[in-house]
Amino acid sequence: MPHTLEWSRAYTHRLALTDADPLKARAGEVAQRLARETSSGELPFLTMPYRARLEAELPPLLPQVRACKHMLVLGIGGSALGARAIQQAFAPGQDTPGHTGPWLWIADNVCAERFEALLSALSPAETMVVCISKSGGTIETLSQYFLVRDWLRTSMGEAWREHMIVVTDIVKGYLREEAGKHGLASLEVPDYLGGRYSALSAVGLLPAAFLGIDWHALLDGAASVARPLAESPENVVEHPSFALACWAKALEDHAYSQLIFFCYIPQWAAYGDWFAQLWAESLGKEGKGTQPVPATGVTDQHSINQMFLSGPRNKGCIFLTSEGQEQGRAFGDDVPDKWSWLKGKPFGSLLEAEALGTRMALCKNGVPLLHVQMGDNGPRAAGALMMLLEAATLFTGWLMGINPLDQPAVELGKRLANARLGAKGYTQEEADLATYLAAPQMKQVF
Ligand code: PA5
Repeated sequence: MPHTLEWSRAYTHRLALTDADPLKARAGEVAQRLARETSSGELPFLTMPYRARLEAELPPLLPQVRACKHMLVLGIGGSALGARAIQQAFAPGQDTPGHTGPWLWIADNVCAERFEALLSALSPAETMVVCISKSGGTIETLSQYFLVRDWLRTSMGEAWREHMIVVTDIVKGYLREEAGKHGLASLEVPDYLGGRYSALSAVGLLPAAFLGIDWHALLDGAASVARPLAESPENVVEHPSFALACWAKALEDHAYSQLIFFCYIPQWAAYGDWFAQLWAESLGKEGKGTQPVPATGVTDQHSINQMFLSGPRNKGCIFLTSEGQEQGRAFGDDVPDKWSWLKGKPFGSLLEAEALGTRMALCKNGVPLLHVQMGDNGPRAAGALMMLLEAATLFTGWLMGINPLDQPAVELGKRLANARLGAKGYTQEEADLATYLAAPQMKQVF
């Protein structure tokens, strides 16, 4: 089954189909930039020049990796969210009864309690640690690396090196130096491949391969969407990712400030967080952007959906469903009369009916809605969706006139935290901290 975008309810309420015309008219400008940046190598998430090397270098690591029962990933943001989405979509066994391994643990926070729980329960000899950081200098990841290195070394001495793989820049950064110094196995995060666009590189695919997920299929799916853009940038106007970008920009232009990502493929719920990071960190710039709001069907029908339906009319919605979902067991004949219409139907029929009901309710309540219908929910389909959303994010940023590949605003908090921890070279931040902390507080006890 093909994957489709269903547009009939996308340009509604304050949005008219003609609102996309001035944006589509900019396709020539977008095409030129796309041609320029793909040929200069600045968009490796689209052109995937790293694929051959990854396919050569990752498989030889697998015997060593799969000899371990556990993989512990150290990474944060774009270095963690893709792996988690892929894990939960395609290797959810860890959260289901009777699982006998393998286990993937993703440490993407600096919660000492959680970290201690992991290190005290895991056996170093049965654990492969994968430290993932494009920059090789992210303090959350590095601090975990220092502690885990000690944990491994204490238990196994110099053999600790065989239980650590580094995924980082090929040339620069502290982690690359560490890999060289200790002879650690490593995989590259290529130049220009920013964290949130890197899930389909070693960053997301090494954990996927450990779990036995078909990572080549993820890449194939992504390539099927990227190829027309990379090979014929001049046809960008026909590409669904550009259509999606025009719609997203039109939404923003018409005061829709939030974009719901409503996922009715429950196994893919963690893609909501992945998408939210991709969209927010790429597009929240210069006072512009739409706030991504991840939601999972049907669970969130009973939580935040009330706000979608009856709150401020400031929301558009990407609504995700899939054909061919598992239907599960059927209801028996002893279902009480009040629910007799369920008799003989499979449990899975609820998902389809509730997705339709919610979709219609959103449309009736003023939410422009783009329905993304996946032909199936295998890894190849997921790769295609990820590439569609990454390309759409890029084009939306270009149409907005901002850089969708950087994230300058997050630096301030990092500098202040470093100053707070006593790092050198943050004179201004130290002064700002002192002023902030000296301000009189207004506390209320509860
Ligand atoms: O998308 C991004 O660029 C960020 O979220 C990064 O992934 C995150 O800050 C972690 O960076 P790094 O991979 O350099 O440790």
